Amino acid sequence: MAVRCSKLLVLFGALVVVQATIGGARLDFWDSTIRLPSEKGKPEDVDKQSGTTWAVLVAGSHGYGNYRHQADVCHAYQILKKGGLKEENIVVFMYDDIAMHEMNPRKGTIINHPQGHDVYAGVPKDYSGEHVTTANLYAVLLGDKKAVKGGSGKVVASKPNDRIFLYYSDHGGPGVLGMPNMPFLYAMDFIEVLKKKHASGSYKEMVIYVEACESGSVFEGIMPSDLNIYVTTASNAEENSFGTYCPGMSPPPPPEYITCLGDLYSVAWMEDSERHNLKKETIKQQYQTVKKRTSNFNNYDIGSHVMEYGSKNLTDEKLYLYQGFDPASVNFPPNNGQLEQYMEVVNQRDAEIFFMWQLYKRSEHGSEKKREILKQIRETMKHRNHIDGSIDFIGKFLYGPGKGSSVLNSVRALGLPLVDDWECLKSMVRVFETHCGSLTQYGMKHMRAFANICNSGVSQAQMDEASWAACDGHDLGQLHPSNKGYSA
Ligand SMILES: *[C@@H]1O[C@H](CO)[C@@H](O)[C@H](O)[C@H]1NC(C)=O
Repeated sequence: MAVRCSKLLVLFGALVVVQATIGGARLDFWDSTIRLPSEKGKPEDVDKQSGTTWAVLVAGSHGYGNYRHQADVCHAYQILKKGGLKEENIVVFMYDDIAMHEMNPRKGTIINHPQGHDVYAGVPKDYSGEHVTTANLYAVLLGDKKAVKGGSGKVVASKPNDRIFLYYSDHGGPGVLGMPNMPFLYAMDFIEVLKKKHASGSYKEMVIYVEACESGSVFEGIMPSDLNIYVTTASNAEENSFGTYCPGMSPPPPPEYITCLGDLYSVAWMEDSERHNLKKETIKQQYQTVKKRTSNFNNYDIGSHVMEYGSKNLTDEKLYLYQGFDPASVNFPPNNGQLEQYMEVVNQRDAEIFFMWQLYKRSEHGSEKKREILKQIRETMKHRNHIDGSIDFIGKFLYGPGKGSSVLNSVRALGLPLVDDWECLKSMVRVFETHCGSLTQYGMKHMRAFANICNSGVSQAQMDEASWAACDGHDLGQLHPSNKGYSA
């Protein structure tokens, strides 16, 4: 058995080399009908690919401590490109501050696996830096070239017969996904964009994969099933998603890396796609494999529940319709390399502090830099305490000390949306930020509290007073405007 496996590995290695050297020519396979004799008449011929496949890849974070999200997205690009999708049909959103980052031990490259090759080379930077925004993402999805600000101007100019694959990797919170530039992506706005795209009749089917904390909440109770869009998310509406290939964990990145290289759900789907003939594997099969691996084999405190939403009747389709087909994959043995490996992880929100500790540990003892990092860690923790404390205070202020926390943290029944009035959710966040400062990436975890404040019928004026009391009210001499009557 061992011998057979190692032979296969050698064969696989050789194929990779051959592919690399004829990289340019491999695109032609996509449109041609080249098939090995053994492939003829197999069921994979059933799904006729008549249109074009488009892809939108989004890394919603920035900073070296978030290395993994951009690594995921670059890796996804390489898979699609190998699969024969054309660069002109793949739109990439990434901040692009990783490859050349001063802390990157292999300058100019990005890896997404401990033994992985560079996945950065060749990735188009359609929307990078300040242009990675929700507004641009919506414009790109809708094919609205005029609405795009900055970037390459590439949009999904899809036609009725085309398919679209959307993959998103980032931090999130109940009802929101992060972006490196504010504002967040709010679930309902995103669903409205999908509805608009559907109404325009400009695609056949769409598959969406989302990795983020609480990513299920972006779709739970609001994702229609009649848009011909199938969604899977890394986690359900109320749990974390996880970074993996982290320093000091198993499996570890190369020792010179002080940041996590990937995310559990993301590497699960990509490493699955790389090991299978995507003309044979169905969407459903990938979902099942990814679900198992992302649960960390039923260890839900270090894994999450992969969820499905939308048009579940798409799942019998073959994956190549969305991710392309790598001709070399016909040589993969059946069930090649099902990954059964248990992975150590860190949840998305703790990953930042985890990264800072790595930085601290590795900096020179007694140095100015070490002190500086420690200060940053303290400030980050202080800010987190400020956010958590303010929310807690607001809960007590609005509902009384006994009930505050249970109201803010209550989770609605499965199938119900996070909030009934999504505009209320946005305005409550705005009111909070006016008094308490920016919610930040970390603060996204409190979106359920804001949602529950809306669901319980609290008015903006009440929220304004509560936020003022939590964050400004302690300043001597200040009085809340609506509260003047109490004074003197
Ligand atoms: C899925 O169901 C929708 C109706 O909700 C239908 O329009 C569509 O053709 C179906 N797709 C497949 C692939 O069966």
